[in-house]
Amino acid sequence: MKKIAIVTATAFAMLVLPANAKHKDRGVKDELTKTECGACHMPFQPRFLPAISWTTMMSDLANHFGEDASLDEESRLKIQAYLVENARKKEFKKVKDGVQPLRITEIRWFVREHRGEVSKRAMEKAGTMSNCAACHSGAERGQYDDD
Ligand code: HEC
Ligand code: HEC
Repeated sequence: MKKIAIVTATAFAMLVLPANAKHKDRGVKDELTKTECGACHMPFQPRFLPAISWTTMMSDLANHFGEDASLDEESRLKIQAYLVENARKKEFKKVKDGVQPLRITEIRWFVREHRGEVSKRAMEKAGTMSNCAACHSGAERGQYDDD
């Protein structure tokens, strides 16, 4: 009886899970990254930027978009490893001066996706386009298609 229940539950999960895949948590999984890189803004998902963007950013945290986001060397290396491992696999083809972007908000698809889509009110509330969570309630879980 017990065995049947387990088999049934597994079959049920297999049927239901694909439908729920959309709601899977695709947010930052590494705790250290979540804490340190989520202190001033939400922790951005590494898959938005290629490895070179992350290593460039992580090599100059003292000058991080006008802020000092310095870390001790051990934490810096651990976080960098997580970001690189989970980075976007391909570099962007069309980039200004051949330099990969450091900002998600400057990526071509990002600009295209948001052009004409953002109301003045939403923008005022968010303050900056970097404030993903102000407009996307699922941003920390890596979900951006919900609104
Ligand atoms: C001391 C505060 C602070 C910490 C800590 C911090 N950041 Fe930032 N970060 C900022 C500010 C300020 C901006 C610029 C936001 C803006 O332009 O509105 C920014 C922007 C960014 C952007 C670009 C967002 C965009 O516009 O597309 C990325 C990517 C980023 N940070 C990654 C990280 C990572 C990775 C860490 C952890 C190593 C980190 N940040 C830690 C303050 C911080
Ligand atoms: C001021 C509001 C606002 C901010 C801030 C914002 N977005 Fe958006 N975003 C939108 C709107 C509106 C759309 C278009 C409607 C939609 O598809 O949800 C959109 C669309 C998207 C899409 C395409 C969704 C899809 O599947 O069609 C992605 C991905 C996305 N945003 C990511 C981000 C990320 C990452 C950030 C932060 C770096 C961000 N957005 C910041 C409002 C915003």
